[in-house]
Amino acid sequence: MPSADEPFALIIFGASGDLTRRKLMPALWSLYAARTLPEPFAIVATARTEMSGEEFRRRMRETVGEFARLQPPSEGVWERFAAALRYVPGDPADAGLYARLARTLETLERARAGPPNRLFYCATPPSLYDDIIAHLGASGLAAPRPGGVTRIVVEKPFGRDDASARALDRQLAATFHEEQVYRIDHYLGKETVQNILVFRFANGIFEPVWNRNHVAEVQITVAESLGVETRGAYYEEAGALRDMMQNHLLQLLCLIAMEPPVSFDAGPVRDEKNKVMHALRPIDAARVEEVALRGQYGPGFAEARPVVGYRDEKGVAPGSRTETYAALRLLVDNWRWAGVPFYLRTGKRLAKRASEIAIRFHRTPHMIFRRSPGGVEANSLVIRIQPDEGIALTVAAKTPGPDLRLGPVRLDFRYGEVFGGEPPEAYERLLLDAIHGDPTLYARADWVEKAWQLLQPVLDAWSEAPGAPLCAYEAGSWGPAEADRFIARDGGSWRKP
Ligand SMILES: NC(=O)c1ccc[n+]([C@@H]2O[C@H](COP(=O)([O-])OP(=O)(O)OC[C@H]3O[C@@H](n4cnc5c(N)ncnc54)[C@H](OP(=O)(O)O)[C@@H]3O)[C@@H](O)[C@H]2O)c1
Repeated sequence: MPSADEPFALIIFGASGDLTRRKLMPALWSLYAARTLPEPFAIVATARTEMSGEEFRRRMRETVGEFARLQPPSEGVWERFAAALRYVPGDPADAGLYARLARTLETLERARAGPPNRLFYCATPPSLYDDIIAHLGASGLAAPRPGGVTRIVVEKPFGRDDASARALDRQLAATFHEEQVYRIDHYLGKETVQNILVFRFANGIFEPVWNRNHVAEVQITVAESLGVETRGAYYEEAGALRDMMQNHLLQLLCLIAMEPPVSFDAGPVRDEKNKVMHALRPIDAARVEEVALRGQYGPGFAEARPVVGYRDEKGVAPGSRTETYAALRLLVDNWRWAGVPFYLRTGKRLAKRASEIAIRFHRTPHMIFRRSPGGVEANSLVIRIQPDEGIALTVAAKTPGPDLRLGPVRLDFRYGEVFGGEPPEAYERLLLDAIHGDPTLYARADWVEKAWQLLQPVLDAWSEAPGAPLCAYEAGSWGPAEADRFIARDGGSWRKP
């Protein structure tokens, strides 16, 4: 692995876009401001929009002011960072762009103690990945160079089904070795998500109860209160299953369900996650309705103001059948988890923004406090990913008074309270890992393919059967009423985060 002070160049495709503006540049600046970005570095940005380098730097200063976790302490410090930014306008489908990029890189590398590592970043719509990868190959920019490592970061979505994911992998494999390819799932860079592994494998007391003997069910929720905002056209092609379930929620499931890896290194960690994917019970195409449910939001309220339904959003077809809510019931067929249901749900325009994993344990085998009115809740452990990041364990306690009454209390750890300040953004950690060559928190090709394979029967059922149910729910609610019946079949109910 290259050391932290090796020079590097980052080349961003799609640099006039939303991701660069809201995530990449603010993250790069914050890394620089925190003195964690290896130096010397150069950032070469490219997109079709015509603008000068000066104009690009001005825009990036603005975006850092708006979105970065850390702010420039003075314009002088910003200028030192900005001196490393270059903008090369051009169409990613045009071979001429790559010759210009190569010249810019060579000039920078000569001036900055080259030959550095190069990291290409595809921050364009995925329809352009083919062109970018092919031109990087044909221009020689992807080729290994003496003294420097070349890598490529690919943004999600990695394909839109099993077949297209394989096609993208073939395209990548024709130009890059798998160890050069970094498939980013920004959920894996979140502090609380990384903490799942620390919580499980750096504490001795949880692992003995982390199995079917003690765990009754697992619920994974990624709820958004926002609608599709300006991304209606994109969302029409994606839907909740592709946009969230295939990547973020399945990754979370793997972190909860995986066996202890032999070390916290990319190979062992990703191998264990893959084993979970192999253990997930395949979905029977004839019985999709038993394990998957979809919904779409209608008009309602968000933060007390009226909002339109999905079909009235900009860029959405009036008769759209794209799901904005999806729920799955999955089983992990191995010794640890046999028979434990994993419920996954995600949706837009839900009652609140909340991502969490809730592990409900079995009740005590025998209850001696029978006279306590209302009974006693089973213990539960809730890992809050956002907002209010933290971990809470619910236990029964005696409530004050002469009677022996029991009630649930929460032993609650809150990141903000304990560590203070803003945790680093997921993109900061992930960019740094890609620069250093550590793919532990990135998705591997075989994992991605397995995830598409698992969901393909659901994708088929929802796209091919015109009558496949699409349950309506009111914006600002917790999803369709059918979702409550879906989980009630097993005797359970959804947690309210
Ligand atoms: N935005 C997010 O929050 C977010 C989150 C997770 C993942 N992603 C993924 O990150 C990638 C980039 O997202 P984004 O929201 O930044 O995308 P975007 O704003 O739609 O596009 C990025 C840039 O790509 C260029 N582009 C668009 N269509 C093009 C075309 N037909 N030919 C050539 N260039 C074209 C545009 O620049 P020019 O017009 O100047 O060429 C645009 O500014 C996508 O794969 C997305 O799925 C985004």
